Amino acid sequence: MKEHSPVYDGRMMDITVRSGRVEEEAADAVVVMHCEGEPRLTGGASALDARLNGRLAALLKSGEFTGTPNQVSIVHVAPGEGVRAKRVVLVGLGKRKEVSLEKLRQATATAAKASRAVGAVSFAMPVQDHAELLTGLPAASRLHDIAQALVESAILGLYEFTVYHTERKDEAKAIRRMTVLVSDSNALAQVQQGAEQGQIVGEATTYVRDLCNHPANVVTPTYIANEAKKVARERGVRCTVLDRPQMEKLGMGAILGVAQGSHEPPKFVILEYRGGPRGERPVVLVGKTITFDSGGISLKPADNMEQMKADMTGGAAVLAAIRAATRLRLPLNLVAVIPATENMPGGHAIRPGDVLRSLSGKTIEVINTDAEGRLILADGLTYAQRFKPAALVDIATLTGACVVALGNHAIGVLGNNEPLIGELKDAGERCGERVWQLPLWEEYYEQIKSDVADVKNTGGRPGGTITAAAFLSKFAGDAVWAHLDIASTDWSERERAYIPKGATGVGARLLIQFLCNRADGTRPATRSR
Ligand code: BES
Ligand code: MN
Ligand code: ZN
Repeated sequence: MKEHSPVYDGRMMDITVRSGRVEEEAADAVVVMHCEGEPRLTGGASALDARLNGRLAALLKSGEFTGTPNQVSIVHVAPGEGVRAKRVVLVGLGKRKEVSLEKLRQATATAAKASRAVGAVSFAMPVQDHAELLTGLPAASRLHDIAQALVESAILGLYEFTVYHTERKDEAKAIRRMTVLVSDSNALAQVQQGAEQGQIVGEATTYVRDLCNHPANVVTPTYIANEAKKVARERGVRCTVLDRPQMEKLGMGAILGVAQGSHEPPKFVILEYRGGPRGERPVVLVGKTITFDSGGISLKPADNMEQMKADMTGGAAVLAAIRAATRLRLPLNLVAVIPATENMPGGHAIRPGDVLRSLSGKTIEVINTDAEGRLILADGLTYAQRFKPAALVDIATLTGACVVALGNHAIGVLGNNEPLIGELKDAGERCGERVWQLPLWEEYYEQIKSDVADVKNTGGRPGGTITAAAFLSKFAGDAVWAHLDIASTDWSERERAYIPKGATGVGARLLIQFLCNRADGTRPATRSR
């Protein structure tokens, strides 16, 4: 598998925003929503129903369609009915009182997938129908956020990773065009901007999914470095790649320790985007990038080990976030630090008991070579200090314990600064990648004291996510710092409305929302592709 199939290949869907009404739209499908248990159709659905001789209302009346979350019914348009689309896709939003952006994302993705399944190549959705359901959102940005949610979730729901299938069944089935319809043309600009943001954020997430779904024999540390250079070239940001000799010279003993068992050369990647005022301290993002985590000498069991090709989700999310920040022209300074290596066993691999001297000068006793993420992050966080970060955020598939603590529906957050943690929680709530805080009390530090070095790399089973963060905190210096553990959410065992089986691409949406909020306003004046 040496050919480098380009990540991010031609599955793009055209997205159009225009004034118009669903009943006039010539698409393969028009998608309209309905709230659970309500006897009457509203908005676009009722306009369509008037021309379809009440056939949508009949579905409701029969009880066949009730509008529970993500329920779908498809009605074909007969010739002469006065609806220009080929079919109407009716999708349930759940109870009116419980409608949220998240419900809207799920319903949209479900409807988009249902449209594709019946062979539609284009579909259209009205945006304003949803505004009256989401009165909890600030009025000034409501339509922007709804448009963003529609586009983002359609992109995410329709995502498929098929590049390695040579005998594909459903080859022909792909949606090529999505149209977002605006009934009040005064709202056109706002909806346009929201749709663009949805496209940028959606594509950032599918970019992460691609990088994580590609196997580790393709996506190596070198591949990541090349991808970062490509992003830098395309987006006009500065990129530095440190190779092993440069890392040795700097004294990055922690990441080099992890790398020494692998034949793949490690890369330490730095991207710098200067969108803010000169001299303003940057936000620095550090992403764990283990292109494959075998566990090393403390070898992992065989079951599910293949999922460890996604142990680079943090780094991919950081790369995607900086790429999106440039597309959004966010007015802030931003640095991405991406320490990339494999974790493999081998004659040269580190052993339990080995002591590593990290970039910070602190010595680390390696108890378990499978606790490699915190080792590479130690050097990443230390390196980040040189940028004097306004905020330092690391993101990592760090601990199995995070899955035990939070299941698959929350990202863990810990740190040394409550306002920063609050910002991440707010961003998570808003974008749909929710974040839950765990304590980082001084009592936990007892568990990572070493008899032979300054610190050891594991703290035993109790509170595994917390002791991992305690370890990281020792390398965060005096920066305002937070750590995101995405081991709970980076991989999905089952398909969900807008999350496929496999790599979820988690982290990109959260980081981008966090940066947008920081940039003060999610709608900067100018945008670019
Ligand atoms: N990459 C793993 C954590 C992980 C587990 C991510 C499950 C995604 C799903 C990490 O490097 C690891 O192996 N952590 C160990 C730490 C332990 C040895 C202290 C773990 O959680 O078992
Ligand atoms: Mn590991
Ligand atoms: Zn790992």
